[in-house]
Amino acid sequence: MSVVGARPNLMKIAPFIHAIERFEESAGSHVKIINQLVHTGQHYDQNMSDSFFEDLNIPRPDYHLGVGSGSHAYQMGQTMIEFEKVLLASKPDWVVVVGDVNATGSCSITAKKHQFRVAHIEAGLRSNDWTMPEEINRIITDRVSDLLLTPCRFADENLKREGASAQRIERVGNIMIDTLEANREKAASMDINAVVSRNIAQTPEENKTEKARSSKARKLTGEDFVLLTMHRPSNVDEPQTLKALMDALQEIAEKYPIVFPIHPRTRERLKEFALWDVIAENKNIIATQPIGYLDFLCLNMRARVLLTDSGGLQEEACVLGTPCLTLRWNTERPVVLVENGGTNILVGNDPEKIRNGFKQMADFPRKEHRPELWDGHTAERVVSAIVNRTK
Ligand code: UD1
Repeated sequence: MSVVGARPNLMKIAPFIHAIERFEESAGSHVKIINQLVHTGQHYDQNMSDSFFEDLNIPRPDYHLGVGSGSHAYQMGQTMIEFEKVLLASKPDWVVVVGDVNATGSCSITAKKHQFRVAHIEAGLRSNDWTMPEEINRIITDRVSDLLLTPCRFADENLKREGASAQRIERVGNIMIDTLEANREKAASMDINAVVSRNIAQTPEENKTEKARSSKARKLTGEDFVLLTMHRPSNVDEPQTLKALMDALQEIAEKYPIVFPIHPRTRERLKEFALWDVIAENKNIIATQPIGYLDFLCLNMRARVLLTDSGGLQEEACVLGTPCLTLRWNTERPVVLVENGGTNILVGNDPEKIRNGFKQMADFPRKEHRPELWDGHTAERVVSAIVNRTK
């Protein structure tokens, strides 16, 4: 039984499900794997969830828990209550969770309390920042998981330091890169202007008039644009922080158009803090709704610089070679940093650091970096690791 809850889970579960199908075909009739997919419903919008099922060819969930939005306690409590019912009805051999969202933490605890085996894909990442809800989810999930499937050596080291036994740890690589590799060619052949126009056409709110929308869309004739995503509570939930970030971004927008797909959390805060018009009225900030997987990949391949506070996007930028400024003070993914061969620097949310970092990275050459085992075949190793432990 595999679990998804929020957008970043979907590109991690897709290759796992497809690898099960391939495994069954190649192993013949003596091995049968039945995978039931559970969607907790933490993310529920078409463009935060459904479009990814379509783009990534993920089958419809067997169970939809319909948890929706709410506080952390509400989301996790409600997920536990609903997940327990399907778990006890289905009695799976394994519960497979991915990443670090609330669905990951709550479903792994629920499964372990009922003595089901838990496998965690993307185990061992640590920001050592306990103010991040994701860090708490990572730590509790790893503590209760029987099988810790890790993306890199840093993750193995973190787990060993915390006392995990070597038998529980298996390094498999980065499963999200399987999805990237499977879609890379298709995204590369897409027309960048068509991607932007298609997304901007649906954004009357972000770009006030039809005229503003078409003039913004025309700006992306070349490849000199910056791509931005931002949604962490530490960046968007405090008015002063968000205002300072918007000021820094406006400076960058004087030089390069910024494509900014806006996360629902950020949208709410921008409005609440009266910063919405900064975006709607800036002719160089091309705001859109959250955009689909393939469209985003196409943008990430061509952007001059990516600015983000996402976890997964740092990894995609690394493999694509996109220079990346991470709008955080720490990362649980040090393997992507410049000092480790990647394309990423940490600039936090300090405007001065962002300004200087941008100067440094704007002329940084695209340089693909592929950490060990980020080879597009991680999901096969995940399936083998689980099958080998299922007797
Ligand atoms: C969650 C994850 C985070 C991940 C992010 C990616 C946790 C603790 N956090 O944060 O790790 O990087 O997803 O998107 O699990 N909303 C919608 N439509 C949706 C989903 C949410 O409008 O489909 C709104 C909610 O009403 C809420 C806000 O977006 O106000 C935040 O959603 P929530 O799921 O609480 O957390 P994220 O910030 O998305």
